[in-house]
Amino acid sequence: MTATHVSRAGGLQRGLTRLLFASAAGLAAAIGLTSHTLADSTPIVEQTFDNGDGAHRTVSAAGAIDRDNPFFEDLGTNGRRCVTCHQSAEGWTITPGGVQARFDATSGLDPIFRTVDGSNCAAEETSTIEQRRVAYSQLLEKGVIRIDLDVPAQAEFLIESVDDPHDCGAPLTGASMFRRPLPTSNLGFLSTVMWDGRHTIAGHAIRDGLLAQASEATVRHAEGVPPSPSQVRAIVDFELGLFTAQLRDKQAGPLGERNARGGPRPLSHEPFCVGINDPLGMLPAMPDACGVVTGFDPKVFTLFSGWSEAPSPERQAIARGEAIFNTRQFAITNVPGLNGKASDPLQAPLTAGTCTVCHDTPNAGNHSVSMPLDIGITAASRRAPDVPLYTLRHLQTGETVQTTDPGRAMVTGRWDDISKFKGPILRALASRAPYFHDGSASSLEDVIAFYDTRFLIGFTASEKADLLAFLRAL
Ligand code: HEC
Ligand code: HEC
Repeated sequence: MTATHVSRAGGLQRGLTRLLFASAAGLAAAIGLTSHTLADSTPIVEQTFDNGDGAHRTVSAAGAIDRDNPFFEDLGTNGRRCVTCHQSAEGWTITPGGVQARFDATSGLDPIFRTVDGSNCAAEETSTIEQRRVAYSQLLEKGVIRIDLDVPAQAEFLIESVDDPHDCGAPLTGASMFRRPLPTSNLGFLSTVMWDGRHTIAGHAIRDGLLAQASEATVRHAEGVPPSPSQVRAIVDFELGLFTAQLRDKQAGPLGERNARGGPRPLSHEPFCVGINDPLGMLPAMPDACGVVTGFDPKVFTLFSGWSEAPSPERQAIARGEAIFNTRQFAITNVPGLNGKASDPLQAPLTAGTCTVCHDTPNAGNHSVSMPLDIGITAASRRAPDVPLYTLRHLQTGETVQTTDPGRAMVTGRWDDISKFKGPILRALASRAPYFHDGSASSLEDVIAFYDTRFLIGFTASEKADLLAFLRAL
């Protein structure tokens, strides 16, 4: 019995499974892992929003989406709230269209437009609307927020120079990195908190990382004092109850119809535990944290296989795209964190890799284990003209490397961690372009083109179209 079968089983069987999971949770806790199933309670409130490809919906399994929750409250000093950068209509992140609408409605005075981290530089002139349009250009165009981090003490490298198109004049003791807010929905599937994992606490449950994150977000983004423990708990309980997915495709119609399991409700019943489908077997062999002994199953998405013989050609395309995502093989080479460096778990190319080697959490698509990777997003050759480019130098070897964002290395100080990021959850993609941590792929077509070039996949035009239809339906 696989975890996927379990999730399709009826109520009684689900109850039994949950007991199994509960004992596995003890085992997992003993070796410092987290384990839990997602809530089964009937969603009370739904929110549905149209997007360019159809509509996405959020259900709240933790109770009604409660506007009194501190997530929606002004807890700081600059008017910012969590919801300022995590909007339900925009897939619980922000989109350039949404940000531009706010700029137009408020002449660029909405609380998202604050120089603490909204602008290109920390010190910007923002007294006129023209100045604000310039100061917040990256936020307006790509929906990215400036994350300023110092090079950690004891780091193996220093920042030798920065080529900064905005001439901010920031000291080389740190870096300004422009990143997309991550969605605050579907968080029950996380194995890593933040793009660079800086709020994942080793040996602790993801929930503890989220509690720390909510507190620091109030201090950093909203320039406030840390919220009370009960406020922080209320925020995290709220976030963990949310499930968001595409509900309806403008061509294929409702995504949960006739043997398909798209949309947020089936997602809210999907079991998860860290390591549920680890491709590298990095976790000790045990009944996996979900209580079942299974190897890696590359068939990560099982939502639309029931449509492979559907009468509608649009539904068939989505089913074919899902199969491509699960099974289309290509060589995965030179990915630091996987097989790019001497310190990596694999020392050879994965000749028969699939998208699901990295996107391995069943029906969610993120890494089911913490596995920061450098797939090449930050390479100097991909750099957009409005993004700073950093040159980092290894203190011992003198080696240098250029990157638009040092990623995980700004947390650990390790040379080998430069430009590594987590693989994010892939649901509700249609609600929240642009993609990748820096918003450098403006559409899902661009994402597919990136992979086609980076891994020399050689997708045919029809494979690309099918994969696109599938990604849009998530
Ligand atoms: C100014 C915009 C802004 C505000 C306000 C904001 N966030 Fe975020 N949030 C971000 C950005 C940007 C990231 C990603 C940063 C990174 O990974 O380096 C993020 C990441 C997160 C994540 C990580 C999700 C994941 O998949 O790892 C959570 C959870 C989160 N925010 C919750 C909150 C909460 C709770 C609040 C209110 C206390 C809040 N945010 C306020 C911009 C914001
Ligand atoms: C070697 C590991 C790996 C493989 C293989 C891989 N991905 Fe990714 N994927 C990642 C990582 C890591 C990120 C985050 C990168 C970043 O933003 O820095 C990502 C990000 C994405 C995103 C953007 C999500 C968002 O919210 O911005 C999409 C979509 C995606 N991948 C789809 C695919 C598809 C389709 C394939 C197969 C053609 C694929 N991936 C293969 C590791 C991988």
